[in-house]
Parts: sequence; C-alpha cells; structure tokens
Amino acid sequence: MPFPNNFVWGAASSAYQIEGAFDADGKGRSIWDDFCELPGAIRDGQDGRVACDAYHRFSEDVRLLKEMNLSAYRFSVSWPRILPAGTGSVNEKGLAYYDSLVDLLLENGITPYMTLYHWDLPSALQKKGGWLNRAVCEAFAEYASVIAKHFDGKVRHYITLNEPQCALSLGYELGTHAPGLKLPVEDQLQCMHNMMLAHGLAVKALRKESSCPVKVGIASTGTLYYPVTDTPENRQTAYEASFSLKPDGWFFSHCWCLDAVVLGHYPEASPDFLRKFSNGVPESDWNIICQPLDFVGANIYHGTPIDVHGNVVLLPKSLPRTATDWPITPEILRYGPRWLYERYGLPVIITENGISCKDTMHSDGQVHDADRVEFLRRYLKELEKTVDEGTAVEGYFHWSLTDNFEWEYGYTQRFGLVYIDYPTQRRIPKDSSVWYGRAAESNGKHLHQ
Ligand code: NOJ
Repeated sequence: MPFPNNFVWGAASSAYQIEGAFDADGKGRSIWDDFCELPGAIRDGQDGRVACDAYHRFSEDVRLLKEMNLSAYRFSVSWPRILPAGTGSVNEKGLAYYDSLVDLLLENGITPYMTLYHWDLPSALQKKGGWLNRAVCEAFAEYASVIAKHFDGKVRHYITLNEPQCALSLGYELGTHAPGLKLPVEDQLQCMHNMMLAHGLAVKALRKESSCPVKVGIASTGTLYYPVTDTPENRQTAYEASFSLKPDGWFFSHCWCLDAVVLGHYPEASPDFLRKFSNGVPESDWNIICQPLDFVGANIYHGTPIDVHGNVVLLPKSLPRTATDWPITPEILRYGPRWLYERYGLPVIITENGISCKDTMHSDGQVHDADRVEFLRRYLKELEKTVDEGTAVEGYFHWSLTDNFEWEYGYTQRFGLVYIDYPTQRRIPKDSSVWYGRAAESNGKHLHQ
C-alpha cells in the first residue's frame, strides 16, 4: 500500500536554531542566550544570536518549502519572544513575527505545525528555578493560552514539548545543554514531572482557547530497538527492550514520557528511584498530565538491533555513520513507529528524522549531498513498509529545512535540505531538497524510481 493520500510531507526547524534576532523587537532572553555565553559551552564559542537570520528571511524559507512541494512546516515559537518575562506582559511584535510566518505559510497552502517548547525557556523563569519550580507549569499554560487565542483558526496543529528526554538529560543531568545543570536524581525527577504537568496544562489551555478543533501532540524521543529477524518472537524482544527502563540512561526512552501523557502513569517496570517517585504522585496530578491527544510525535534518527534472546547485536564496523557518528539504521523507521502505535494506539507523526553530513559547496556552486539522498530513500522505504503493515503514520517531517545551530556543536553539523552559506546567509537548495520534493509531490512513488 502506498502512503495514504493525505500523508503529510514536511520539514522541521526550531526557533533558537534558526531565528537569530536574539534581542530584536522586545524579545526576552532565554536560557540558550545565557548558556552560549559560558566559556567552553559551545564548539568554537558559537551561539544563536544570528543563526540563519530566519527572523528576517522567513519568506525565503517559505518559498523553499513551496518549491519542495511540502504540505507542512514544523517550527517552534520562542517563548521569550512572546512573553519576555515568561509570564505577564505580551510582546505584540513577537506575535507579529509569527503572524507573518503563519500567514505566508497558509497563503502557500503549507500547514503550520507549531511547537510551543523547543528548549528555549525564558531566563526570567530559570531565575526562579526553571523546570525545578512547579510554578513554571502554570507559566507554560499561560503562554499556551496566549498562543491558542492569538492563532485561533490559523494554527490547528500543536506540539507541546520537544524531546523532554533531551531537555532533561542534557540540560539537568549532564549539563551539556542549557541551563547546564547537573542535578541530583531527585531533582531531575521533579523537573521531569513538572514538564509532564506543563504538557497537560498546555493541552487543556490549547483546547479551551481554540474555537475550532485543534490537533495536539508531543514530540518524544528515545532508544528504540528493531529485530534482526522479522519473526514474532524477535519482534517481541525488540518491543520489550524499547519500553523497559534501565537505571543507566533511563532518561533516553520514550516510555516515561508517553506512558505518562497517554496512559496516565509512569512505567511499571522502572528503576527503584522512579517507582518510588511515582508512588508519591497524587491522582490529581495524573488528571492534569493525561489529556486526550491526537497523535504521538516521534523524533527518530537511529535504532539498535536486538536478537530473539534480547541481546543487543553489534553493528558491523563497516556500517555507514552520519557526521554526528550516529549509525545509519533505516529499519528503525519501520519498527519504531509500529511499537509506538501498538503501545499507545494513537496515530504517529515522525516529527524529526534526518542526517548530518559534511556538506560543502562544489565548484558548480551547488551542494551535491548524495549521502542524504541515500539516507532519505532508505529510511522512507522502511517507513512505507510500516504504513503497508498497518501502522497509522500521518506524516514525516525531515530535520531540518535548513542547516542551523546544532546546540553544543554550534554550526559544525549540517542537517539541512538547504545549505546555509553563513557569511552571506544565502540559501542553496541541496540535491536532497530536489529529491525530497519529488518524493513529496509523488506521495512516495519517487522512492522507487
Ligand atoms: C533533536 C532536536 O529536536 C533538534 O533540535 C536537533 O537539532 C536534532 N535532533 C538533531 O540533533
């Protein structure tokens, strides 16, 4: 079965990674503005003050989406651009920027998928404890209300949080992302729980303040396993491994987040400290966290093979890897969405998938990124298989539309379908953007040509 007719072909980005204009038009500071100023925090001392200057060049980016025949654009709103102090007075100029972007997308027949939180917490809220302070949940709900009221009738697809797993583990456990903290596990758990509460309150606010129906989900990430043999037994071990939490690295799994928001509890099979924490959560919190959702968003880049006995299988040394050294394992786009659909029963949207390559401009002025084309072809064919097998997948968003600021790696990693020549900010569509455009236009038929 080919992709369904209404399959969503999109590309994704996030505010801090592309917008720049870090202090323009009344924007408040975010924890990423602060973190980038810490010596040694970011490769080569880089930051997102200018990034791709999308704040001023978004119309070029919309044109690129249109040229690629894409039907949707996932982008995030910078919370401190809208509420410079995190709560309270609203910055109309910040809203005006997103109005222009949303209007232009709609004029071009491109559906906006708006992410509310892609890691750039207002610094003013960090000063009050950030995600460790439960008050941030109410602040997030206030922000969600402002957005829902303002974009009512225009934006109908929302993602509350992007990858709470990474926001927590990198920001609050390992300290390699903003706000750069290394908190004890009890505090990490509190931050986790507050994010879940914030999600629930935001879902309620989005639905309450929208006069027309909106579709709401979350973008989750984590390790997913795939079977080395496609047998029922091996599929079972891969499924179980994907949803079991080990004391080490437990943060990087889908289930603590998705079990919470979809099933209304933290996973039963969890390390002692999480079980203990979970036992203390009052029912009233679960009534907030567990709200009806329309889809599960999944950011999936690579997976881990596992055999029928539940043993992880070592990947061959010759297996191709991305510039970030992530293994290229297309099979995960077949099995990952399937496990998520089986467990949560909601349509899945691939909210991110992509590859960082050592892209350079060739002497003909073009960027010939054959590795990204190959990646796309192989991953999308696997996604097509899972659709064929009955997994409800509503869409695929490639990460990313353009090269951008890749967090602690600065500008050393290029994930875009479109190359950014940073000194001039010139946008150069890579070969992959042409290929992906054809895939979108043909609703997947181009994968087989
Ligand atoms: C996950 C994050 O959501 C995004 O911000 C990041 O750039 C990509 N993955 C690639 O690492």
